[in-house]
Amino acid sequence: MDQIEIIKEIGHGKRSVIYLAKYKGKNVIYKITHVLQNDIDEKNSRYYATLKFYEDIANHYPNHFLTLLDHKIDENCSFEYKYRIESDNSKEAHQSKICLITIEYPILDITLKDYYHHINRSNNFETIASKQRKIYSFVVQFNCMFMLMQTKGWYHLDSHSKNIMGVYTEDKYDEMKINDLKFKIPLFGIRWYMIDYDPMYNKSFNGNVVIKSGAWDYIKNDFHYYLINVIEYILYQPYWIFILNTGCNWKCTDITVKKILNSPNTSYIKQLLPDIQEPETLKSCAIALAIVLEPEAYMKYRGFDKKISTEKFNKLLQLTKNGQYFDADDIKFYVKNLNDPEKNVRYFIDKLNHT
Ligand SMILES: Nc1ncnc2c1ncn2[C@@H]1O[C@H](COP(=O)(O)OP(=O)(O)O)[C@@H](O)[C@H]1O
Ligand SMILES: [Mg+2]
Repeated sequence: MDQIEIIKEIGHGKRSVIYLAKYKGKNVIYKITHVLQNDIDEKNSRYYATLKFYEDIANHYPNHFLTLLDHKIDENCSFEYKYRIESDNSKEAHQSKICLITIEYPILDITLKDYYHHINRSNNFETIASKQRKIYSFVVQFNCMFMLMQTKGWYHLDSHSKNIMGVYTEDKYDEMKINDLKFKIPLFGIRWYMIDYDPMYNKSFNGNVVIKSGAWDYIKNDFHYYLINVIEYILYQPYWIFILNTGCNWKCTDITVKKILNSPNTSYIKQLLPDIQEPETLKSCAIALAIVLEPEAYMKYRGFDKKISTEKFNKLLQLTKNGQYFDADDIKFYVKNLNDPEKNVRYFIDKLNHT
């Protein structure tokens, strides 16, 4: 740890700052995070879960997870977080004198969020088919990472679009071994990583205690950890276009969901929903499906045709449609098999090999 030489800051989250650094002749990530006393108490602690996750999974799959090179707890650290502190419960952590430092590898190129923006902008030269292949490859890689984590009971409770990063590569394929399964994944220029292992959850370490973090407090069903993130952040980019343009999120849409599921022209969505009991997940699936498959109907059910001008309504509709890289049939297949990632992986690999 003494051999570390910090070069520059390259990112931050809600309570940590990430630096580019040099360590034993290598470019590495230096992450410093404020933590609370109970985060570092061995049993059931977040910190313990993070380290265990490196040991169990991450360190063994350097092509899709970060490798931990070194770590330490500084119980009297002078690190001060200089960004806006968002929530009251993180305020407590920011006043803590305890810091967790990790040194990780490799340096990655781009977050999923920025990659989406990039793809959307590069519409001059790139065909829709080419963009689609890149997104499908991402979905395959993401599902493989999910399956890998699942082999040892791990869930990433915060797999949003900035906790997923890619590195550009010339490699055409990646071989991924998951238990006794083997997949040959076409990469289309980018290899995807899950990053940020603070919110790793495993029943055998954390029991039924769900790590408190915003929306996660109410979670009761294992699958939900994964599904809700896929729905919100990954598969349905149009969903985000919609949210960004209307300022409305899924939390306020109970009535809309009922309308969608009971109306004559969108009621078929009911049949597409995966076989999962968790109501929040089903709700997210229903909304996402409605936005992607029936954006016009969805907007009408939410009353946007009355709230905004026809011109703005049509523009929003167009934006939503433009951001769709998934074929309707593929979306239906994916959501129907949401709790069978292996089936989805095989289906999409097959598609990628035949386009
Ligand atoms: N290995 C990496 N390579 C390049 N950038 C990184 C890497 N790890 C983190 N970052 C950048 O730092 C940001 C925050 O990192 P993260 O580990 O998610 O911290 P937090 O736990 O605070 O959210 C990321 O969204 C990304 O922009
Ligand atoms: Mg993060």
